[in-house]
Amino acid sequence: MIKSPRGTRDLLPPDTALWNFVEAAVRDVFRAYNFHEIRTPIFESTELFARGVGEDTDIVSKEMFTWEDKQRLRSQEVAQLAQAGISMPGTKFPADIVESTRHYFVQSLTLRPENTAGIVRAYIEHKLWERGLNKFFSIGPMFRRERPQKGRYRQFYQIDAEVIGPATAGSQSPVRDAEILELLATLLDRVGIANWTLQLNSVGCPADRVKFNEALRQALAPVVGKMCADCQRRAVTNPLRVFDCKVPEDQPIIETLPTITQFLDEACRTHYEEVKQILNAVQIPYQENPRLVRGLDYYQKTTFEFTHGALGAQNAILGGGRYDGLSEALGGPAAPGIGFAIGEDRLVLSLMETASAQSVIRKPDVYIAPLGAGMNREAARLARELRRHDLVVDLVIELGDESFRLKKSFEAADKMGARYILIVGENEVAAGAFALKHLASGEQVTVPRAELAQRILRK
Ligand code: HAM
Repeated sequence: MIKSPRGTRDLLPPDTALWNFVEAAVRDVFRAYNFHEIRTPIFESTELFARGVGEDTDIVSKEMFTWEDKQRLRSQEVAQLAQAGISMPGTKFPADIVESTRHYFVQSLTLRPENTAGIVRAYIEHKLWERGLNKFFSIGPMFRRERPQKGRYRQFYQIDAEVIGPATAGSQSPVRDAEILELLATLLDRVGIANWTLQLNSVGCPADRVKFNEALRQALAPVVGKMCADCQRRAVTNPLRVFDCKVPEDQPIIETLPTITQFLDEACRTHYEEVKQILNAVQIPYQENPRLVRGLDYYQKTTFEFTHGALGAQNAILGGGRYDGLSEALGGPAAPGIGFAIGEDRLVLSLMETASAQSVIRKPDVYIAPLGAGMNREAARLARELRRHDLVVDLVIELGDESFRLKKSFEAADKMGARYILIVGENEVAAGAFALKHLASGEQVTVPRAELAQRILRK
């Protein structure tokens, strides 16, 4: 039997009803906050994530699904590349192929592990600063080669939102940070997630980071020998990433390290204070967590996560923050931005603790059972009429032996959870009135064709 690859899964009905319920609710919330949908490719050039998310992060160094895409070139394209000095990083002519008579262009591509870098790439590629402030959302699959467990998959889904634009459009303002956080509180309430905790921090600006990294290097020097191999590497390349370590034995050492808070400059401190003041004003509770540096390199100033107790080890339902330097790191103009990504798989898991998928799925209002020769056509006509009234209608096509049809129809209607069963036989068609049975109460009435929809809608 061919099974779905490790870390991937099929989402089946009725659970998909819960996913649709969540997506419809978040689309409503995004509409109210003037966010608009953006759809970017599921794969991008590898370089985008290396430069955007950061080479030293777990995501880029260990978890990406990357492959080399080989494209045969026409001679004209070869000439163009040669003229350009084939200087594009991430592209090369492999020696063995160049030696042959054919020319290929090899590009490293990666299934997107997150969507902020892709959206900022689109911002630069389409010169979206010309539109002023952009408020985007997107919903779709992401891919990370992580060890699968409850709430952690290799293909998972994110509901992502990004606010990005030139500083003149107000993209830098702490009011934006607070708006995003308030939106999230509204969104979680709206879908029915209670008991979340908002963890908040500021990771400062790049100059603060340099000072902080230096302090970390010094603090780590005498103890790093006792830490895991990853931390030993991080201590040299990017000490901040030591905070991503999950190895239990390393945690007591990490607890003693300095925190970023004491290294924030005046501007970052004021920005952070203002975010907190607005949150207080709109009564959004938060917990400050000075060790929340987040596992992606692009963050500056505000960072946050919302956690939820029902999730166990993978308790971060969403994460985000400000990334004011990301556009420049990707070759674009200065474009301060802030955003978040909700792990939709985790959101749905949390919801399952309270609302079951069954409670949001819409069961058929009526199940049509044609009885007797030629009645399939009549049943199809009736189904069409009733669906025009926005009723959910299903019908039996063929249930074998005529003599058991009625019994089997009742069983099928019951299994499907239909509210009514409608019997379509020759006599009913001739009389223009049909037997309509309410399955839960067993009550049966004869209803003229023209009144059927109203009667079923009445509940
Ligand atoms: P992130 O913290 O890497 O941030 O991911 C956001 C959320 O995606 C996590 O809190 C978690 O709920 C979910 N998630 C991550 N990995 C997995 C997985 N393997 N299985 C299931 N769920 C997962 C980002 O991706 C940033 N792009 C967020 C952002 C947007 N920052 C600014 N704008």
